[in-house]
Amino acid sequence: MHFSKEDFGEDFKWGVSTAAYQIEGAHEEDGKGMSIWDSFSKKKKNITNGHNGNIACDFYNQYPSDIELIKQLNIPNYRFSISWSRIMPNGVGEINFKGIAFYNRVIDLCLELGIEPWVTIYHWDLPEALHKKGGWTNREVLNWFNDYVYCCVKYFGDRVKHWMVLNEPMVFTGAGYFLGVHAPGKIGLSSFLAAAHHAAICQAEGGRILRSHQSDYKIGTTFSYSHIDPLREHHEKDEKAAVKVDALLNRLFLEPLLGLGYPAKDLKILQKMERFMLAGDEQKLAFQMDFIGLQNYTREKVSYAPLMPFVQAKIVKANKRKVVHTLMNWEVYPPSIYKALIRLNSYSSIKEILVTENGAAFADEVVNNEVDDKERLLYLQDHIAQVLQAQKEGVNVKGYFVWTLMDNFEWAEGFHPRFGLIHVDFATQKRIIKSSGKWYSRLLADQHI
Ligand code: FCB
Repeated sequence: MHFSKEDFGEDFKWGVSTAAYQIEGAHEEDGKGMSIWDSFSKKKKNITNGHNGNIACDFYNQYPSDIELIKQLNIPNYRFSISWSRIMPNGVGEINFKGIAFYNRVIDLCLELGIEPWVTIYHWDLPEALHKKGGWTNREVLNWFNDYVYCCVKYFGDRVKHWMVLNEPMVFTGAGYFLGVHAPGKIGLSSFLAAAHHAAICQAEGGRILRSHQSDYKIGTTFSYSHIDPLREHHEKDEKAAVKVDALLNRLFLEPLLGLGYPAKDLKILQKMERFMLAGDEQKLAFQMDFIGLQNYTREKVSYAPLMPFVQAKIVKANKRKVVHTLMNWEVYPPSIYKALIRLNSYSSIKEILVTENGAAFADEVVNNEVDDKERLLYLQDHIAQVLQAQKEGVNVKGYFVWTLMDNFEWAEGFHPRFGLIHVDFATQKRIIKSSGKWYSRLLADQHI
């Protein structure tokens, strides 16, 4: 390995990320309301092996020792999300003060230990009560979401200075409202376009609310972003297909935020978004974030597929291409993060980029109480090296957060794909720091390794 922490600069933020539903458990404790992930995972067929996040890592109860572990790993920044239905059980109105107290304990403990809290306001767990009223497809969500952001600011905003409005809107609208493979399991173009438009407005409005509350907040929002290549090089139809998929997966939420509107020129179907747009919406979609959170895991290869509705393109998965991949069937391709950084940096209105998620799921083995996860360690090293390369070439990348602190509930895939720096035995809740976690802690401790 050819880098040390210093190479990235003193103000570079090193961290680790988690999300409420994936770790907290305590799904109905202390007055928490139900979220769409609670109800979605009640239907066993929705999640591999019929798993659910009812208990998950039991972070709700184990948070003191888990945050101690973050400290032990020398990680100075912790990104986590607030569960909307834990603090507002019906999504609107009534506040659950026990839920508020939980996040206050988490925030206070982080600060006490010298760990900076980075809060994601929405990481996919919409209150079920709002889903019953149409959820993200109902334009009312603009008001619900605003109230929720105000609530977060009111109760946590005196101590939390780093905020991310949404986690990967393309994934929760695409998988949740178009493909139906994530909560709330809706399918179809109309529900997708409606949900997408409302989420795109909320990401900007959320930023505006935070900014109006306190001008020195660091405000961002996060995007999934995979570099996309045509399956066959110099194949015109594949190249065109790759442009369309790029518009959909990488640019749909980013460009309106930057004031560029939806990328309908490159993906005609997005013209239909107009059905959900009201006068003045174009302005509402734009907001100057302090930073953009890049979440990168892999690259995609795309081929022309005339029968595929709306995009006439399909993603050819890693196993079909016979390339090295993780348990998620995501190709291991470190240059993807570099290419993503270069590309994001080319938008002049992006001030700063932070990698808010990067990591990998491999089949870990516990041997004599140790987990020697060589593949993950190498994956992280190779990706961090690519981040450094991009920085050296002038990209204003100012942080890197590993996904994730500990093995957790990986959405529709259940507990099988383990992404953690820390191994979790879900039967006993025992934690073991993996080799990758030990390496990360040495990197952050300033030792030259
Ligand atoms: C991202 C999600 C995160 C986690 C990783 C593996 O898309 O934001 O919650 O599941 O993928």
